[in-house]
Amino acid sequence: MSAPTKTASESAIKQQEPSSLSAGSLKPPADGTARLYERYWPPVPKFEGFDAELVAFMSASAEEQQALLARLRGDTERHGRFVHRHLAEVYAHWFGYRDGAFTRHTDDAAEEALFATKIRLERELFDHWSISDAEPKFADQFEAADYLDVVAATNPGVGHPLFAYLRDEATREQLERFLQCELIRNEVVDDEVALLVVGLQGMQKAVAAANLWDEVGRGKLENFHTYWLRRLLEATDGWDALYEYRESHPWFAKFTSNMNAALLTRPSRKMMAYGCFLVFESWVEPHFVNILDGLTRVGILDDEVRIYFTAHVKIDPRHSRELSDGLRLQRPLLSDQEVRDVVHGAHLASAAGRRQFDHMLTYLKSMNGGKPMNREGQSA
Ligand SMILES: [Fe+2]
Ligand SMILES: [Fe+2]
Repeated sequence: MSAPTKTASESAIKQQEPSSLSAGSLKPPADGTARLYERYWPPVPKFEGFDAELVAFMSASAEEQQALLARLRGDTERHGRFVHRHLAEVYAHWFGYRDGAFTRHTDDAAEEALFATKIRLERELFDHWSISDAEPKFADQFEAADYLDVVAATNPGVGHPLFAYLRDEATREQLERFLQCELIRNEVVDDEVALLVVGLQGMQKAVAAANLWDEVGRGKLENFHTYWLRRLLEATDGWDALYEYRESHPWFAKFTSNMNAALLTRPSRKMMAYGCFLVFESWVEPHFVNILDGLTRVGILDDEVRIYFTAHVKIDPRHSRELSDGLRLQRPLLSDQEVRDVVHGAHLASAAGRRQFDHMLTYLKSMNGGKPMNREGQSA
């Protein structure tokens, strides 16, 4: 006798009735975890007004803004510093934390000016800062997914010399500085993934949402990926040092985050954001293995410091596979334009990464015995 088949309702209820939160998730956390959650996250200072240069730019006319940017283009360093530092200030608002301009009160007129500035700076970013190589064309999302698997494994960011340097040569001070940069780069990754979810559908949405669920520890506070960064700061007594360092965090360390935010906060670029994120997830494993080898070489063996990196070495290869399979399984089939956008996003990520890693290698090598650097990223 065959078992009675379940109705659609019964099947749906069976799958959805149990909580996704594992037993104990909705109880107060252990003391150690609770103590670390007393800290504000991300570890950013309160907004205290825009940089004077950005204030002047925001109050200028569209023509004046364009003329200023055109003048800066001849000097890559000044142009890059202007575009990337100010974009980062602008995006702080969109992520909604206390370093953002209007995240605790609204100001319609000022937010209009901020919105216009965002669009102007993003135009500059896309037209003059993120040129990627010629891109092949694909018949469909299946060919594109196969291609992205190859790009993800072989793009110039994957085996960039920065990571061999960290593994083989960097001093303890250089590695510690690099960890500060990594922390700043990763401090709101869960929000970046949350923004990716918006506007996707079907299997692409499912894999992005599953990635977000991992980022927030599948409901367990001690497994939020950002909690592992809290542990790193706690173990190294690094909270105050990070607040101090943030002032001099160099403009070129913001390329990949700015590129990602630019894609994530413009709805028409959502497929590019998906391709971009696939590349970002794919190079985590090779990069973090090298970082961990470097930490071992200089004697940083404390698991509290290493957990963010050791965990991601195991987790992120699955995340990138899921992103490429999500692309294959997406229905309705992606349009030609959407397929092109996903591939373009992957190329943008690869180009931004390579450029950022080039600068970062020069920056670390120029460190003067680990002394802090000034705003321009030079030894003070
Ligand atoms: Fe993560
Ligand atoms: Fe991940």
